[in-house]
Parts: sequence; C-alpha cells; structure tokens
Amino acid sequence: MVPRDWIGGVLKPLVFVVSLVPFAWIVWRAFANDLGTNPIETLNRYTGDWTLRFLLITLAVTPLRRISGWHWLIRLRRMLGLFAFFYACVHFLTYALLDQYFNLPEILKDIAKRPYITVGFASLLLLIPLALTSTNAMVRRLGGRRWQRLHRLVYLISVGGVVHFLWLVKSDIREPALYALILAGLLGYRLWWELRGATRAAGGQA
Ligand code: HEM
Repeated sequence: MVPRDWIGGVLKPLVFVVSLVPFAWIVWRAFANDLGTNPIETLNRYTGDWTLRFLLITLAVTPLRRISGWHWLIRLRRMLGLFAFFYACVHFLTYALLDQYFNLPEILKDIAKRPYITVGFASLLLLIPLALTSTNAMVRRLGGRRWQRLHRLVYLISVGGVVHFLWLVKSDIREPALYALILAGLLGYRLWWELRGATRAAGGQA
C-alpha cells in the first residue's frame, strides 16, 4: 500500500520530470549543434519515437497494475497519455514548421498523397478528443462508461502509430516490427482479460 500523499507529492512530480527528459535532451542537443547532418530529420524521428513510446507506456499501465497489484499506477496514466499527446504535437510541429515551412496547401497535399502521413495525421487528430476529455470534470460530464468507450480510441491510435512507422521505413523493418510486437502483446492481454471476464460472467449466470 502506497500512501496517497506520496503519489501526489513525490511520484507524480518525479514522473513528470522524467517524462520531460527526452524533450530537454533534444533541445539541449539542438542548442549544442549536435543533431547530425540532417537536423530536421533527427528532430522529426526522435519526437516520433517518443510519441510511440509514450503511447505504449500509457497502454502498459493497466496490464502492469493488474499483474503487479500496484493499483496506484493508475494515477500516473493520465499524465503519461498527455505526454504522448505532447510529443505528438512537437513531432507534428517539427514536420509542419521545419520540414514544410507551415505551407498549409503543401501539408494538406502531403497528408492526402502519402499514406503514412495520412495515418500519422489521423492518429494525431484522434488524440485531440482524448486530451480534451482527460480532466476529472470531463469524466464526470461524459459519465464513466461513455468516457471509457471514447478512450478506447487509444488502441486505434496506437495501431495507427505503428502502421505509420511500418509504412515509412524503406527496408529495415526491425524497429517498427518490435513496436508492433509490444503493441500486439498489450492488446492481446486486454482481449484475454475481457474474454476471461465474459466467460466468468457467463459461468456465474449459468
Ligand atoms: C500519434 C501520432 C504519431 C506517431 C505515434 C508517430 C510516430 C512516428 C515514428 C515512430 C516515426 C519514425 C521515427 C524513426 O524513424 O525512428 C515517425 C516519423 C515520421 N512522422 Fe510520425 N508519428 C505520428 C504522427 C505524425 C504526423 C501527424 C505527421 C505529419 C503530418 C508525421 C510525420 C512523420 C514524418 C515526416 C516522419 C519521418 C519520415 C522519414 O524520416 O522518412 N507523424 N513518426
């Protein structure tokens, strides 16, 4: 049992600071002129990686909580999800501002033309309602069930993130395949949990 004060007063601020480290690190490297020969590509890829990592970390909270019995983990989930959104926004901005010079017609053309950009953009759009409804007030307004149903979009968003990565790599698919495997494990666990619950409920009714 972990005291509530310890979670709010120590753990949450700690996770917040740790989640900002990848961002601080890339900003530091940018100022130190240490982004390699193609700085825009480095920035774009780095922020894309962290978007996907935060999505998967957020999805891992519930399985971890169930397996370990550490129920306090749930209190970190909203922040981790919001960090996924934060990194997705930075990722999109590196693309839109640095790569496309915020040329809106060109960006729209690119979204329509290149399937991996289409999928990435759709995932970003789907993240917006989740970020907007992440507050306690919005959970109350929507009601637990509707809120939960809406937030199941995170599965689709994560699949979109992995497909986006798989479609953009040209030859070596090892890295996106690893993310796909982790995602399959996380989604598979949830499916198993739901089926187990349904079987038990049916058994109880019989
Ligand atoms: C949830 C949303 C998204 C996720 C999870 C995501 C994830 C990723 C990942 C993992 C990479 C590859 C990084 C690497 O090579 O190591 C990447 C690259 C990239 N993403 Fe995204 N992305 C998302 C949204 C977007 C959006 C909205 C755009 C633009 C409209 C975008 C444009 C790009 C581009 C241009 C690249 C680099 C392609 C290249 O270097 O060939 N992404 N993204």
